[in-house]
Amino acid sequence: MIKMSPPARSLIFGVVFFLFLSIFSFSTTNAHSCTEGFLSEAKRRNLVATFCKRYQESNGVEIAMKLKEKPRRLDIMVGAMLEEGTGWLAWGLNPGPEARMVGTQALIGIKNKSNLLWDTYNITTYTKFGCQLLPSPIDLNISNFNFSYIDYLQYHVIKATIVLDPLKYDVSRLNHVWQVGVDVDAVGKEPKMHAKALRNYDSTETINLMTGKGRGNRVHTSNLIRQVHGVLNIIGWGTLLPIGVLIARNFREYPLPCSGWKSYHISCQSVGYIVGSAGWAVGIWLGKASKYYSFPKHGIFGICIFTFATLQMLFLKLKPDDESKCRDYRNMFHHVLGYSLLVVSCINIVKGLRIMYLDENYWVPAYFGVAGCLAFIFLVFEIVSWFNFLCDKFQLRVLCDKDTANDEANSKKVSRDDGKVQPSDTPKNN
Ligand code: HEM
Ligand code: HEM
Ligand SMILES: *[C@@H]1O[C@H](CO)[C@@H](O)[C@H](O)[C@H]1NC(C)=O
Ligand SMILES: *[C@@H]1O[C@H](CO)[C@@H](O)[C@H](O)[C@H]1NC(C)=O
Ligand SMILES: *[C@@H]1O[C@H](CO)[C@@H](O)[C@H](O)[C@H]1NC(C)=O
Ligand SMILES: *[C@@H]1O[C@H](CO)[C@@H](O)[C@H](O)[C@H]1NC(C)=O
Repeated sequence: MIKMSPPARSLIFGVVFFLFLSIFSFSTTNAHSCTEGFLSEAKRRNLVATFCKRYQESNGVEIAMKLKEKPRRLDIMVGAMLEEGTGWLAWGLNPGPEARMVGTQALIGIKNKSNLLWDTYNITTYTKFGCQLLPSPIDLNISNFNFSYIDYLQYHVIKATIVLDPLKYDVSRLNHVWQVGVDVDAVGKEPKMHAKALRNYDSTETINLMTGKGRGNRVHTSNLIRQVHGVLNIIGWGTLLPIGVLIARNFREYPLPCSGWKSYHISCQSVGYIVGSAGWAVGIWLGKASKYYSFPKHGIFGICIFTFATLQMLFLKLKPDDESKCRDYRNMFHHVLGYSLLVVSCINIVKGLRIMYLDENYWVPAYFGVAGCLAFIFLVFEIVSWFNFLCDKFQLRVLCDKDTANDEANSKKVSRDDGKVQPSDTPKNN
């Protein structure tokens, strides 16, 4: 369908190279064990752990567990840093077939400005739909449950002893779920909705306490795929398409006429479209793979981007003959759609970075930097070309070099002595 010109080929090469570089520079830490301080605290509390793990990608929560097989007694200690003035820390077991929020029998510790409170909560579908989450009896045999602050670790810690019902909980497939939130209504002991990033949705795991190994954690199985999704989208929609637009806008006539602009533009947009669509397809797959949560706005924007970009590409084929009125409409449509695509892509990339919780480190600033640079170049070109344009059309001698302005203006005059002078003449296509 698309002929590969030499620029297209070198572009693809560059993209692939950049892609490999980028995948490895995403910051990920796969700390499988817990921190020294937490482990020693667990030992101090007579909890020599069968299992101790720090969930770096999931709110930095640390969990230690000790299973005593005969009475199936499980001692747990769950710690996290609650940095704000208020906050809550939750941990629970889900007796259902999968590790997920709904159905979790949770222990929640709440920190208000002056007190620490703790209680048990039965988490249901109603909770997910936003009904108040209030203390209630749960289906776990719990003792020694308390919530305290460990000064030297700056951790808030839930500690409890649970006797597992062998009919409901299989120690080789134990579904546990944890969460951290900020807003509370401590008077009613009500924790409010947690944040909506991946680090809050990835906070579930099925573990085997016989071996002390966790498995089926989504963080570790799909992080690379998520990164591929992000990188492909940033390169496709976020880099190549804007560059292609820049070429079409600025190398056609003003300020730098370049006869090859069209093939460069088409190469850029085609490669950008292919790379971006691949990234989009990975996104759709990711969305399908995560059953219990979704990112509706990011997804809808994504679908719009893909749809409109596809329309743009299809319009390449549609070439009404040059003189027809249709051509003006086609160009207008092409331009409006093109610019809207850039804006929506930019928004969606920032949304994606926020979902991945990359706004906390250098990713969002880096992306804003790149987008800002492109916008700046665009602006400079725009000013220069309008300046040139005004010189040519209106012979503003005060502003422009007199001779060249005159020469050019004269030559233009000859070619169009119909007298029609409209600014919209300039950005006309082809
Ligand atoms: C305080 C009230 C709470 C509300 C209003 C709430 C609401 C939600 C919502 C709306 C989602 C995402 C749904 C989607 O995108 O389709 C979600 C996901 C999730 N929440 Fe909560 N939540 C609350 C408390 C908790 C607690 C206490 C825990 C942990 C014990 C928890 C753990 C999770 C997990 C692990 C997910 C990921 C999806 C899943 O596994 O089902 N949430 N929550
Ligand atoms: C304009 C560019 C982008 C498009 C068109 C796009 C498109 C999509 C689509 C259609 C989904 C599925 C949504 C759902 O059904 O839940 C998705 C999910 C996702 N996207 Fe993007 N995306 C873009 C940029 C990014 C970026 C830059 C990142 C991060 C670096 C990112 C991270 C994610 C993540 C983490 C998910 C959800 C994965 C999951 O459900 O486990 N996206 N994206
Ligand atoms: C928890 O809530 C569910 C759904 O409303 C209910 O079926 C279950 O009996 C409750 N569990 C306890 C221990 O109250
Ligand atoms: C909870 O576990 C303890 C210790 O095994 C046991 O004595 C007690 O009867 C259990 N309580 C319930 C309600 O099952
Ligand atoms: C919490 O409970 C544990 C075990 O019952 C106990 O050792 C610890 O002192 C308690 N902490 C507080 C702050 O009550
Ligand atoms: C904190 O919780 C206590 C106990 O429920 C309550 O009396 C107090 O008003 C709460 N303080 C704030 C600031 O919410």
